[in-house]
Amino acid sequence: MYLILNGKHVPLEGFEPHATLLDFLRSNGCTGAKEGCAEGECGACAVVLVRPNKSGGSRYVPVNSCLMLAGMATGLEILTVEGLARGKELCEAQSAMAAAGGSQCGYCTPGFVMSMFAEQYRPDRRGPCDPHALSGNLCRCTGYRPILDAAQSLGMPKNDSFRARLKQPAPTIAPIDTGSFLRPDTLSGGLELLKQHPNAQLIAGGTDLVVEANLRGRRFSALISLEAISELRVFRDLDCQVEIGAGLTLSEIESLWTEAPRIVTEWFPLFASPLIRNRATLGGNLATASPIGDASPMLLALGADLRIVGSNGERVIPLSSFFQTYRQTALRPGELIVSVDIPKPFPTLARFYKAAKRRADDISTVAAAFAIDLDNTGRVTEARLAYGGVAATPLRMFQAERELIGHAWDERCVRSAQRAIAAGLSPMSDHRGSAAYRLALAQSLLEKFFVESQVEEQCH
Ligand code: FES
Ligand code: FES
Repeated sequence: MYLILNGKHVPLEGFEPHATLLDFLRSNGCTGAKEGCAEGECGACAVVLVRPNKSGGSRYVPVNSCLMLAGMATGLEILTVEGLARGKELCEAQSAMAAAGGSQCGYCTPGFVMSMFAEQYRPDRRGPCDPHALSGNLCRCTGYRPILDAAQSLGMPKNDSFRARLKQPAPTIAPIDTGSFLRPDTLSGGLELLKQHPNAQLIAGGTDLVVEANLRGRRFSALISLEAISELRVFRDLDCQVEIGAGLTLSEIESLWTEAPRIVTEWFPLFASPLIRNRATLGGNLATASPIGDASPMLLALGADLRIVGSNGERVIPLSSFFQTYRQTALRPGELIVSVDIPKPFPTLARFYKAAKRRADDISTVAAAFAIDLDNTGRVTEARLAYGGVAATPLRMFQAERELIGHAWDERCVRSAQRAIAAGLSPMSDHRGSAAYRLALAQSLLEKFFVESQVEEQCH
């Protein structure tokens, strides 16, 4: 087992099974990447993966190395901040940070530089660097103005070896079996391994599971990685539905789904950070069944189905019946999610809202997604009101939906639905918000949806 680290093959050995890629890098002399939080919130650990692009070349993908187990990096090509300078000559992102005064204590600086480097070499970039590319990196002391100045001072990259590297193919993710870390490359191979190792834990991007391992000391006797299974990486935008492979990362979905409806395009940037979206998969986000996972409300509002496969064959179930109790789903032993299927046509009006302490890279206090269809007299013919953060599972408010269906889409029917929401929800209080605040948000976000739909109508 090996990885390609800053252009050199490095044996991937001598680490304990739950060590992260960050641990491995630091114990092998690459101490630029730091551990700030070990849960994907600060970006101090950012490194860049060299991954395939759509046309046979490569792209630079920044990720949190604290959220990858070392075994997951087998065969991958990785750049760390140590690999960017050529002798004493800094790369442009490093020089820009120094020139703008973007570093004080320096703890966050290598992570910012890696995100900036990947953004500078993004092949489809037109114009200045997108500051949102840095939204997964936190700085506690410099302040963001000079860091932003540094990013925005970067022009197109020079014709250098980093640019030349992008014209070459990236390593493919190959199957491996270490006894405790198994990475099949076919769906049938994955199902067979699940049969042989019934207690094994499935892992996709790892952005939730590795947090459990890092912060709560969770240990797994065996892990089956879904990352190399090509059948889970299919995307099809058909006339009747959109099929999204459960193993595609959120960033991949964003780039493949060129005709995504507004509810989806406004959801992408609100989901965690670019560093997380570059690893997190849709299947993983649903299978972890987090009550605050932001994909669930959006997909519930769109009426998504899940295609699930196991040794007894395939079945399709509505996402609305997938979440059973806290962190429990309808997945049976030996099954995995193959794709998320979203029916077409999309709803007439559909929006996603996220209330959190800050806009980027944060956990929702309440997430809400609403979708309605209207007939030509303005009556509601179909309604789906979905929430995260208000119960033990993501959920749809069926009674509130019934208050809308068949009625004119007006303030009176919105008030009835709000009363049904109050009667049907009993959210909990925690450090993110009290039960009363969450309930008020659940109601007022529906009102916001209604008001915005009226404004939209007037604009058309
Ligand atoms: Fe904070 Fe990895 S250490 S995101
Ligand atoms: Fe100190 Fe950013 S320079 S945390």
